[in-house]
Parts: sequence; C-alpha cells; structure tokens
Amino acid sequence: MSNPVQERLIRPAQNIVGSLRLPGDKSISHRYGMLGAFAEGTSRFTNFSTGADCASTLACMQALGAKVVKTGDNAVEVTGVGGHVTPTSQPLDCGNSGSTMRMISGLLAAQQGTFTLIGDASLSRRPMERIRKPLEAMGAQLTLTEGHAPLTIVGGPLTALDYTTPVPSAQVKTCVLLAGLQTRGTTTVHEALRTRDHSELALRAFGARLERTKTSVSIAGPQSLHAIDAAVPGDISSAAFFLCAAALFPGSNLVIDALGLNPTRASLLDALTAFGLKISVLNLEEKNAELVGMVQASAPAEGLGSTTISGALAAQLIDELPVLAAIAPYSRGGIRIRDARELRVKESDRIALTVKNLRAMGAEVEEFEDGLDVPGGQTLHGATIDSGSDHRIAMAFSVAALRASGETLIQGADSANISFPEFFDLLDQIAER
Ligand code: S3P
Repeated sequence: MSNPVQERLIRPAQNIVGSLRLPGDKSISHRYGMLGAFAEGTSRFTNFSTGADCASTLACMQALGAKVVKTGDNAVEVTGVGGHVTPTSQPLDCGNSGSTMRMISGLLAAQQGTFTLIGDASLSRRPMERIRKPLEAMGAQLTLTEGHAPLTIVGGPLTALDYTTPVPSAQVKTCVLLAGLQTRGTTTVHEALRTRDHSELALRAFGARLERTKTSVSIAGPQSLHAIDAAVPGDISSAAFFLCAAALFPGSNLVIDALGLNPTRASLLDALTAFGLKISVLNLEEKNAELVGMVQASAPAEGLGSTTISGALAAQLIDELPVLAAIAPYSRGGIRIRDARELRVKESDRIALTVKNLRAMGAEVEEFEDGLDVPGGQTLHGATIDSGSDHRIAMAFSVAALRASGETLIQGADSANISFPEFFDLLDQIAER
C-alpha cells in the first residue's frame, strides 16, 4: 500500500450530525465474491465492500481461475469457474482475513488438488483447528502449522457430514456448508446459537437449496450455483462506530441509509436501544433475502444508561463489543460484557487491547477471562492508543476520543483499511467540532 497513514490524531467533537450511506457489508461481500467466483456465469455486484479483506477473497478466487473486473466505484464483475477451480502452486494469500481463509478452505476441500493458504502475522496466530476437524471428518486432508496458518489442503471427493460447531462461528458453519454444497448426500451443521446467516441467504440467492431449522442448516449436494446481480447492503458493523459516536452526544442526529439490517446482525440496534440510544428504523425492504433499511439515531439529554451483554447477545455482537466498551465510561451506569471469550482470538486479543487502551485514557476497567466491566460516569483524557494493527480497535478508540479531553493519537490507524477505508473521512464529515 503506498504511503499508508500509520497514525491519526483525533480531536474531541461537540456533536454528531449528518446523513450517510456506507460501503457494502464485509460479511456479505465475502460471500457474494466467493460464490460468484465459484458459480456459473458473470455476477455483477454494486456497493461491494471497499475493505482489504474482501479484496483478499477476490484475489484468492482470481488466482483459482475466476475473472474479476472492477467496473466502477465499488462495483465489480465476477465471472465464476463453474464449480471447478484451477489449482495453483502459488500460496493463496488471505491477508488479514479469517473469513477468507476459513470459508475458502471449505470450498477447496472438495476440489481436486493441493492448496496452500497463508496470511499475515495476525491471521497466522488465529485458530484453524476449528476448520480442520470437520473437513477431515469429511475426508479432506489439512495440515496446519501448530494449529494455525500456513495451512495445506489436499482436496477431493468428500463424504457428507452431520456436524455440531463447538463454538458459535459463522465462518466455520460456512466452511462446512461450502464443502457440503459439492458433496453427495446431506451435510448438516448444528449450532447452539444461530450465527449470522448471510451464507444461507447468499447460497439460496445463487440458486442452491438449503433446509433450515432454528438450530441447524442442511445442504444436499452436489448442487451448482448461478450468477446473480446484487447490491450489497451497507455494513452495520461499520455503522456501529458512528451510532456509538452519536450515542456520546445528547442532541446528536445521525441518519444512515441503505443499511444492512439482517436480524442476525441487527441486535446491535437492540443493544444500543437498551443502553439508551433512541433509534428508529424506516423504509425496510428485502434485497436477495437480506433486509435493508434506514436508521435514524439520537442520544437523549440524560445520555446513555447502563447495559449488560452476555450469552447469545455477546456472540451476535462480537465485532461490535470493542466500540460498545469504548463508549461505556461516558454512560451513567457503564457496561458489563461476559461470554465473549472469542474476542481473544480475533485480529488481536480484543479484550486485552480494549482494557489497555481504556486505561491509557484514564478509565477504570476490570478485565475478565470472557469479558470486561467498564463503570460509567467517568471522564477520559486523550492518550496514545495501541491499535495492535486491529481495524476495530483503531476505530473504536477513535470514537472514544471524541468525548475525551485533549487529543488522542491512534497508532496503526491505517488498519481501518481492512474493513472500512472511508472511516476517518466519514467521521470527520459527521463530527461537529
Ligand atoms: C464473520 C463471522 C465472525 C465475525 C467476523 C465475520 C463472518 O467470526 O467475527 O468478523 O463473516 O462470517 P467467527 O465466525 O469466527 O465468529
């Protein structure tokens, strides 16, 4: 990347006001990109994620024989391989993206050939045993490096599997479904908590048949996929940063249009409402089975109250927990987060870094193995933030900085490019100073 912005200085703001439309959802873009590249025909996507993670997915699929053409701002045309990838002796570079590595592994496990997948330093620390187990149970061979990437897959015809995921993970569920798509017989994934269901919706949009119950999804293979045209809904996990910023300022008024509101993701709105933010949802419509709508948010005069996030909610809000914790000191009653152990194996140990950076800003916070307690009624000061090159930590503390006294320096701010390159420009656009 040329001339990366390594550091960002964030000045306090007076208010958050404005109206935005956000780039496409990262989870949906990964799936549309991957399925389009595997399908028969040419798919056209608009508002495709601008993040580096989804570019990693497209680059890997291109290396496997798909054709990818950028046709405009955030628009991409993907011509698929019609169900058969071309093996490459070059390693497939998944960059920082766990979604790319885990989901593409399922696709490749059922393909004839040997594939090596690599990632950056952060991705090379993340657990991959969780995909090795089910894929080997189906008959593929996976070699990991001490439980991590680099990983090598020897793929070929598989046998169908009935699998219960040990930790809730949409990536692992998708991995098994993509192997099942190509495998004779019915492959079923059971999950104790329903994780985001973009794969199920996308597979159906591309023409696959799936059976769903409350706690399972089954796919009878083999099935082929057919190209689609789709507009990707705005990313609600990116919106979380701006909604949390709006939550910091009584009198704020933020409107976000064309936002993805899939119920397996939109519990963010329930959590923020429980915390005290006033939210209305308008113009709901369905696009390729994904809900899209307009969200309007404003903070009440008395500010935020208090909230607890645990159990199923913690799993559903896993990507939003750092920013919810980062705004909590400014609330009246604080936040209690539990059952979020998975945060420790994301792009960084997000519990440890959230605690460290809150303390750097002068906040009192208590760390637990599976979460943290952040009391309310605190005043924070500007500080130097260690983002650990983790996009969500960099953005979460840029939001916390808006109500601190003095300026905050975000180290590794360029990591925002992983999911949301436009973040700092849009934050400047809505922050009144
Ligand atoms: C994602 C699933 C979640 C989430 C990640 C995106 C997806 O990860 O944290 O940012 O697109 O399926 P897990 O599957 O590891 O829970």
